[in-house]
Amino acid sequence: EKGGYKHFMLKEIFEQPRAIRDTTLGRISLDTGKVFLDEMKISDAEFRAATKINIAACGTSWHAATAGKFMIERLARVPVEVDYASEFRYRDPIIDPASLGVLITQSGETADTLAAQREMISKGSKTVAICNVVGAMIAREAHGTIYTHAGPEIGVASTKAFTAQLTALFLFAMHLAQVRGTVTEEESRTLIEQLSLIPGKLRDALRTSDKECEALARLYSNARDFLFLGRGIHYPIALEGALKLKEISYIHAEGYPAGEMKHGPNALIDETLPCVVLATRDSTNRDSRLRYEKTLSNIQEVTARSGKVIAVATEGDDQIGQLIDHVLYVPDATELLSPVLEVVPLQLLAYHIAVRRGCDVDQPRNLAKSVTVE
Ligand code: F6R
Repeated sequence: EKGGYKHFMLKEIFEQPRAIRDTTLGRISLDTGKVFLDEMKISDAEFRAATKINIAACGTSWHAATAGKFMIERLARVPVEVDYASEFRYRDPIIDPASLGVLITQSGETADTLAAQREMISKGSKTVAICNVVGAMIAREAHGTIYTHAGPEIGVASTKAFTAQLTALFLFAMHLAQVRGTVTEEESRTLIEQLSLIPGKLRDALRTSDKECEALARLYSNARDFLFLGRGIHYPIALEGALKLKEISYIHAEGYPAGEMKHGPNALIDETLPCVVLATRDSTNRDSRLRYEKTLSNIQEVTARSGKVIAVATEGDDQIGQLIDHVLYVPDATELLSPVLEVVPLQLLAYHIAVRRGCDVDQPRNLAKSVTVE
């Protein structure tokens, strides 16, 4: 049942190209660049009138939500607020009935996420679920569902469901942008073409990263702490890399916005602290180039203090390799989609470190696959 893989987690990491392809299947047109969502009890007029999007989710799904904020705001120009579902209803959230609620959940049964959805609905908001389990509670209560077709996820640590959620969020953002007229037809076609190339690029990323992450695991599996740094849409991916490592290898890890290091955490850096830095760049995008330059200076701040840097960078970047010892390359992609590729080496690094430490990768201690208590 593990299809020749040693663990479900590894099998599911390798299933990501298929999970992404299945999540886009039948929902995109390469000819027109149009995105079609599944049938919803939310009209285009309501999508157009939405004043705000409130997203609530937990754990890895919350990281997808935080990346989704960048996609929705950049493409559809609607403000997005992201909440931990476990905090949401305890602060009497202000919900305009003209806002839209989005719940992101692999299982569709997370008690806190369901409670956040009910809070949104009771305050007059319609809700969209992004869910991996057909017919799950949160999908049933939603006004519309975008199913992630990742297939059953057995490993407790979420991997393919996460990249499928990022894909569903990209589709949602594109659809909203098309309905609201904030992207041109030409931009749509380019972006949808980029999306259609992701499964093939994922296959390349998997092929190159696996062995390299296994080798890095040999060097770093005894570290006591790890830092993961990123900027912009890459920051939630840093958080996700830290969570994966914590939950399956029991190494303390922290994700941090790279630019915040000088406001405190720089004090932690010494030769024993590995820092994983997300440093991909989209050379077609000015903001991405600027972020990349700033990230390079952050890397230099770490190396100047003898910290060890493992960077995730874009293939063809020969500048970064001169600064540091370890670079994990991923294929080039449009910035809003690069998280799908750059999370792969982070998943594999966590996996190989956990295996070396003899941890139960598929069933980490104290954790359950679906959290149905509040
Ligand atoms: C981490 C992980 C958890 C879940 C969280 C939400 O790898 O799997 O953090 O993401 O418990 O679960 P769902 O998405 O089922 O609502």
